Amino acid sequence: MAKLPGIFIVDPDPDARYQIQQLIPQTGFAVSGQSGLGTEAVAQVTEAGPDIILCGLKEPVARVVQTIESIAYALPETPIIVYADTADLDIIRKAMLAGARNFLESPLQPDQLKRAFSATLEAEERRHLRQANNSILGPHGAIITVFGAKGGIGKTTLAANLAVAFVRQAGQSCVLVDADDSFGDAAATLAVTPEQTLIDGLRELDNEGGDVRSCLSYHNSGLAIASAPEDPLQWRQVKANRFQEMLHQLARQFDVVLVDTAGTLGEVTQAALEAASLVLWLTTPDYASVRDSLQALRAVRSLGLADDRIRFVLNVTSPEFAVNPATIEDAIGMPLFWTISYDRLLRQSGLLGQAIVDAHPNSAAARQFSDLSRVLSGLPLVPRKAGLLSRVFSSRNGKAEKPEKLEETKGIEVGEEASA
Ligand SMILES: Nc1ncnc2c1ncn2[C@@H]1O[C@H](COP(=O)(O)OP(=O)(O)O)[C@@H](O)[C@H]1O
Ligand SMILES: [Mg+2]
Repeated sequence: MAKLPGIFIVDPDPDARYQIQQLIPQTGFAVSGQSGLGTEAVAQVTEAGPDIILCGLKEPVARVVQTIESIAYALPETPIIVYADTADLDIIRKAMLAGARNFLESPLQPDQLKRAFSATLEAEERRHLRQANNSILGPHGAIITVFGAKGGIGKTTLAANLAVAFVRQAGQSCVLVDADDSFGDAAATLAVTPEQTLIDGLRELDNEGGDVRSCLSYHNSGLAIASAPEDPLQWRQVKANRFQEMLHQLARQFDVVLVDTAGTLGEVTQAALEAASLVLWLTTPDYASVRDSLQALRAVRSLGLADDRIRFVLNVTSPEFAVNPATIEDAIGMPLFWTISYDRLLRQSGLLGQAIVDAHPNSAAARQFSDLSRVLSGLPLVPRKAGLLSRVFSSRNGKAEKPEKLEETKGIEVGEEASA
């Protein structure tokens, strides 16, 4: 039989350690050791090499936090879950900053422990996959900024649908940040009515012990959304460096922070580009859009954004477009990383406030969003029967090398669940 994953218990109180030790066998995990605080804990945990460390957050809190910090330093790969009988946000925040990955409220129940252990190991697995060099995102929360040099080219459509795909298809925790400082509509695209906006989140950031997450709204997929204020004038109070700090803070709490932007190069957009680990740069196949991209590319380069952080995404927003990806690549001088084909179901689900990955999971666009979320997460693609049209597009998606010309895609209307 395979060895059960091991849990190491750290708690200043020996009785508490004993009680938790009795619970662990009911969770399907095994106890790999236990200890009090301080250097003893660090030495014993290192010796035992557990899969997860469970640590009691109680008086003396400062010593517990110090112990968490030392263990996290010695074993950076091993997740630490803390438990406490108070949900005091300030104490939890200290533990998280010291290196804890999760918090449980005690008294602990076997079911609750089992769920937390499994979720933690799954998150760890994903982190490893990303670290294994086949993911663009990197081991920590990634900030992905969706940019494009104008409005109406599908930025919000891409941001919202990709965000839901990250949660549903790639199993990532994701927050969608609406940084469109003209008329942000990311929450509305997913029929989410926010109670608070990111302006409230920024205020929290300035409060001692405040948590940016209190401003988030949630989509039924579990996707978190930081909405734009309804009144665009409120953006005037936003300082670019505080906004960036908010993005970095969220990146410590979510696997993916996906930022939707306006089609201009204002201060907020610049801040979102600067903070990005990766920029998904959207263009449509028409001359005006490609020309605007070129101009914006020059501007963005002069701001110091390196080309290796940019991935071009071609979005075919109209069935009228004659698509020749090679010509577009020649014009922008960079390869196309991904293509979203024209799909009338995409427009339709947008109007109904649905994500296409939920409403029409077999449609061309839904597959392209799902595949993109998995490719960016370093996960293998889900195999499916390939029809002619999906082959034409998916054979290009994700490839950075210069592709051959695809004359046969000219003027073809793709999508419509053609190869479902
Ligand atoms: N690939 C596509 N196929 C069909 N319609 C699309 C596609 N991409 C975007 N659209 C539609 O184009 C319109 C503008 O998209 P939107 O995401 O709001 O653009 P932006 O955020 O760049 O202003 C929306 O009605 C959307 O449904
Ligand atoms: Mg938009």
